[in-house]
Amino acid sequence: MNIAAVQSTIFLPWFMLAFFICFQGVICFRPIVLVHGILNGPAEFKDFLKILETYHPGTPTVVIDAYNDFQSFDSMWLQLHDVSKLIMNKTSHFEDGYNLLCFSQGGLLCRSFIQSEDKHRVRNFISLSSPQGGQYGNTVYIHFHLIKEEAYRFFYTLEGQRWSVGNYWNDPHHHEMYLKYNTFLPKMDNSVITEQSAKYKRNLLQLNNFILIGGPDDGVITPWQSSQFSIFDENEQVVNYKDRHLYKTDAIGLKTLEEQNKLHFCTVPGVFHTKWHGNLTVFKQCIEQWLD
Ligand SMILES: *[C@@H]1O[C@H](CO)[C@@H](O)[C@H](O)[C@H]1NC(C)=O
Ligand SMILES: *[C@@H]1O[C@H](CO)[C@@H](O)[C@H](O)[C@H]1NC(C)=O
Repeated sequence: MNIAAVQSTIFLPWFMLAFFICFQGVICFRPIVLVHGILNGPAEFKDFLKILETYHPGTPTVVIDAYNDFQSFDSMWLQLHDVSKLIMNKTSHFEDGYNLLCFSQGGLLCRSFIQSEDKHRVRNFISLSSPQGGQYGNTVYIHFHLIKEEAYRFFYTLEGQRWSVGNYWNDPHHHEMYLKYNTFLPKMDNSVITEQSAKYKRNLLQLNNFILIGGPDDGVITPWQSSQFSIFDENEQVVNYKDRHLYKTDAIGLKTLEEQNKLHFCTVPGVFHTKWHGNLTVFKQCIEQWLD
């Protein structure tokens, strides 16, 4: 008698049951990794973790603790390098992958991580009010002693590129300079072709789902539709993501993801920038269904 065979017939149904039925103390939700935004740290997700504990108790969570507070102004390249290593280290034992939820600047960092890391194993990527199309606006939240019309003079320089905001500053009135002097976002968008471009697209296409959450009352991300890959044109009118070169040429795979029904948009009015992760309506409408 083959003992292993007997054991597997006994244990397999139990194992499968445990996988699908959740009860207190049994881990049955896919792990989730959280990455915070600018001028913040792991504590940013306090309210989110409370919601998660209520609706998905026992979810294994990893909150990335790096580039907190003022360090979050460090260049996106530096952050990408270290945060990638950290995520890979902390998720190595999640054999069936994990979901990734990242807020604000963290969402751009996470997209870059996914695009550049061949073995990322992210299942669903939830981008929570992140400047995926870049940023062009004065905000009450971040003061730079700069006005948006003049900021390119600093951001599109070597010194300016040492600042995270400079790395995704997307001034529609100086698009040529953006392509030439912004060392980060044009590359991540494959607007500037590099040796990495094919990989950036290939790796994003590994996602099961890419969820873009944002809303008109965000007050920080400008235009707010940047959270869903739309940008300003030179008249500061919003160009829908579908009308962008990036989408039409499928530069990073967004079009393919959408055709495969893997690209999702969730727009919620009435949420200020710093409230996205703690808002139950947002969790219920836009997030919970993707935490499988
Ligand atoms: C993760 O990092 C820690 C601390 O640097 C190290 O001891 C550990 O071996 C790493 N684990 C993996 C799986 O890389
Ligand atoms: C959460 O979002 C809803 C929907 O827009 C809004 O009505 C509500 O005021 C928000 N709550 C908080 C605490 O921000």
